Amino acid sequence: MTEPTILAIESSCDETAAAVIRGGRVLSNIIATQAVHEQYGGVVPELASRAHQQNIIPVVTQALIKANVTKSDLNAVAFTRGPGLLGALLVGCTFAKSFALGLGIPLIEVNHMQAHILAHFIDDPKPAFPFLCLTVSGGHTQVVLIKSHLEMEVIGQTTDDAVGEAFDKTAKMLGLPYPGGPMLDKAAATGNPRAFDFPVSNMPGYDFSFSGIKTAVLYFLKNQTKQNPEFVQEHLADICASVQYTLIQTLLRKLKQASKDLGIKEVAIAGGVSANSGLRQTLQEYAKKHNWNVYIPAFQYCTDNAGMIAIAAHYQYLAGDFSNQLASPDPRMKI
Ligand code: KG4
Ligand code: ZN
Repeated sequence: MTEPTILAIESSCDETAAAVIRGGRVLSNIIATQAVHEQYGGVVPELASRAHQQNIIPVVTQALIKANVTKSDLNAVAFTRGPGLLGALLVGCTFAKSFALGLGIPLIEVNHMQAHILAHFIDDPKPAFPFLCLTVSGGHTQVVLIKSHLEMEVIGQTTDDAVGEAFDKTAKMLGLPYPGGPMLDKAAATGNPRAFDFPVSNMPGYDFSFSGIKTAVLYFLKNQTKQNPEFVQEHLADICASVQYTLIQTLLRKLKQASKDLGIKEVAIAGGVSANSGLRQTLQEYAKKHNWNVYIPAFQYCTDNAGMIAIAAHYQYLAGDFSNQLASPDPRMKI
């Protein structure tokens, strides 16, 4: 079977998503975003689990209808095993297991971070192996060496906060609403990235650290608002642009080093923070100057979605990599 039809489910954090893929082509990609967390300024795990339970049947139903596929057309069901929130993962895992059992079809467990990277194989152009991927999300910051669809090696990662967390936490300090990353990106658009200096961390090898910049911004704001209580309102765009610039420089320093050391000019970005306009632009400019082939996912495949789970499941199906009814979520699943 070279044209498997697979239903894929994603429920690792606060998006309930389902997609159908056939022969490697995504036929539908449905996402229900959970608005309930906005009032708390961050994802509340228990509320996420409950919302997944409410959303999962309508989302799966819509994904099948949009793809014009019935349950009997399915060759397999895939789900995100981890990493993510345990209670949230449990909803997708349990649903997928029941679905597979009821239909008598195989189950495929997908690693969410691998799936972010494999999202590059949904549309053209596709990266050639080996390539490097900077995987940047709310929970992870990694430099990954991808040798084949299913062979990946993490060669660098954050030693503390993820870069998405750094975006979200500084946005919160600036009084921007949740989710902070996209808001900070928007506010940065009209600011001067060199207006204020924040430290670019330099960890050994290809590792990162983002806790220093968070603290630096906190003390900077405390100092400035002591002298001028209106400081943030008056300089919001410049502060956002400067923070964003620093975070991007911190990320690119390691990516450049890895590219140089390994002699690899095929470079991709993946994960929620790859939606950041500053990162996308800086990477494209650098690529032009240094002859990199860069791969930047379409916006719909940057943040959490089930299309990426579906493409990962497609390659796992072809490789015969199936799970079984003993499967359970792994909140700390590694690449
Ligand atoms: O991959 P993702 O949707 O979920 C996780 O697996 O974590 O990533 C979410 C992260 C959040 O921290 C969010 O603020 C960040 O991606 N993000 C952005 C942008 N869009 C999403 N950060 C900066 N600029 C953006 N435009
Ligand atoms: Zn993600």
